[in-house]
Amino acid sequence: MSSKKILQLNSSLMGEQSYSRKLGNAIVAKIKDKYPNSEVEELDLVESNIPHINPETLQAMFTPQEHQTDEIKQKLELSDKLVKQLFEADIIVIGAPLINRTIHSSLKSWIDHITRRGITFGYNGEGLPTGFVLGKKVYVAMSSGGVYTDEHGKANDFVAPYLKSFLSFLGMTDITIIRAEGLHMPVVQDTALQKGIDSIVID
Ligand SMILES: Cc1cc2nc3c(=O)[nH]c(=O)nc-3n(C[C@H](O)[C@H](O)[C@H](O)COP(=O)(O)O)c2cc1C
Repeated sequence: MSSKKILQLNSSLMGEQSYSRKLGNAIVAKIKDKYPNSEVEELDLVESNIPHINPETLQAMFTPQEHQTDEIKQKLELSDKLVKQLFEADIIVIGAPLINRTIHSSLKSWIDHITRRGITFGYNGEGLPTGFVLGKKVYVAMSSGGVYTDEHGKANDFVAPYLKSFLSFLGMTDITIIRAEGLHMPVVQDTALQKGIDSIVID
């Protein structure tokens, strides 16, 4: 298929200056080289102020469909919209800047909204979790001030393992991590973004 639906998420506080956005844009450009008629839908999670899930949202999420009143349905509107957008995409490009050793809370909120029992995941007869978001390719564009792939940094590399683990739980097992790292380190920072861009392989 020469066209793909790409969902590009950004979660940076740096707007257009953002390195994870630039890296994500480079990933999208390379996907378009391979699949020229692709469509891109962008969602800036910081600008769109994705709220935290709260007790009411949670309760609505666990209300069986046949008992959902208009009020409950309204509480699920955002979550439903984000889930639909996710299911419609073939490829998801996630801009994930490192903020205090983890993902930005806007990206975590997006994850909380798309995690819906009976819709994006469930449990099989043995009680084991099963993801329902199948057939997706995910690229994570990570940016960080420090380096987390060397011997010293590895112990503090939480974002890549977390995203791999959780997105796989939802069924998205085909995940490639691309990094622009060392963006606050002398010398390393001069080539960090370009190194990240050069490491992009679209499979
Ligand atoms: C509030 C804040 C916390 C940060 N925490 C970390 C951190 O724990 N580790 C790290 O390597 N870089 C950290 N950084 C640096 C960012 O990861 C770096 O600036 C990166 O370029 C941000 O991505 P962006 O340019 O897409 O916004 C932090 C930056 C900010 C603003």
